Amino acid sequence: MTCIVSANSKHIENATLILKRSGLVAMPTETVYGLAANATDGKAVAKIFEVKGRPQFNPLIVHVNHIEQIKEFAELRDIDSILAQRFWPGPLTMILKRKDNNNLSDLVSAGLSTVAVRIPSHKTARELIKKCGFPLAAPSANKSGSLSPTSPVHVVQSLGDKVDMILADGACSIGLESTVIDCSGDKVCILRPGAITASEISEILGQEVIYDMGNKQGEVRSPGQLLKHYAPSIPVRLNAIDIEKGEALLAFGSIKFMGIRNGGRAQDLPDDMFRNLSKSGDLYEAAANLFAMLRDLDKSEHKAIAVMNIPDIGVGVAINDRLRRAANG
Ligand code: TXA
Ligand code: MG
Repeated sequence: MTCIVSANSKHIENATLILKRSGLVAMPTETVYGLAANATDGKAVAKIFEVKGRPQFNPLIVHVNHIEQIKEFAELRDIDSILAQRFWPGPLTMILKRKDNNNLSDLVSAGLSTVAVRIPSHKTARELIKKCGFPLAAPSANKSGSLSPTSPVHVVQSLGDKVDMILADGACSIGLESTVIDCSGDKVCILRPGAITASEISEILGQEVIYDMGNKQGEVRSPGQLLKHYAPSIPVRLNAIDIEKGEALLAFGSIKFMGIRNGGRAQDLPDDMFRNLSKSGDLYEAAANLFAMLRDLDKSEHKAIAVMNIPDIGVGVAINDRLRRAANG
């Protein structure tokens, strides 16, 4: 039986004991729930891969509480410190050069010479890392290839009793995984879009920052780009301007003028076939709702999930990235 507990001080204290003994704890962050283990403990990190069914070549993000902690295992250049000061704590992951002779388990970066690092802003995650005193490796707390969890219930559904403790602290405020940027080369580039956008990063650096999401020939900068991701079990159809009979609708904005082919109005769909990411067309609200609503509509009795067009601006870029992966899965 998984121990699912509210994230108060006593339970956070118990969570640190589990982590010190090589156990796994699901912890809330502002992006999605993470599956945490002691990043310096090879046995604990190996468990993450086993429990998630994650390929060993796909490295993990190391979560720390302050910048000094990073200097023990990675190189922070001036430009990285500028980004860190602006965006941390928060939903940004930086890929940095790993230092020689560091204390991290080699498994964390899957044999690469770089390491992914993030300082989350969620108070429970911060308190947990602080009390542990060691960095926490934490991928999203779901089976590899399925939707990331944005609530404790999602963690239970995906990983069941394979986790030693779930620290429950409600829904994640952002709801999409962090923006991943590669800072290990000459030019900073974005490997995974998230709530922190290319234009925000460009503004701070005073130079254009591009997305490098891997090309069609299968060349990738980040192992995670290789993998099937975020896939519901039924088809996902994007940019829907109307729906077919039997399809569920994931709306964005008003559906007043949306029809069902061969007759009917989308407005009259039953509750279990309809979710609206944001009635008012707010992209942040849509991001926070995305994974939970995809899950709600992912039922075998539905023919597919038809998704309305999401503007490809700001955090909409990250939403569309996850939706395209859901559709191609
Ligand atoms: O918001 C988040 O980032 C959440 C929370 C829990 O912090 N974590 C998360 O982790 O989404 P995960 O493992 O699901 O995604 C990490 C991504 C993967 O695509 C992985 O390939 C990439 O980061 N990554 C990790 N280390 C890397 C490295 N050294 N070089 C390139 N990509 C790396
Ligand atoms: Mg993940």
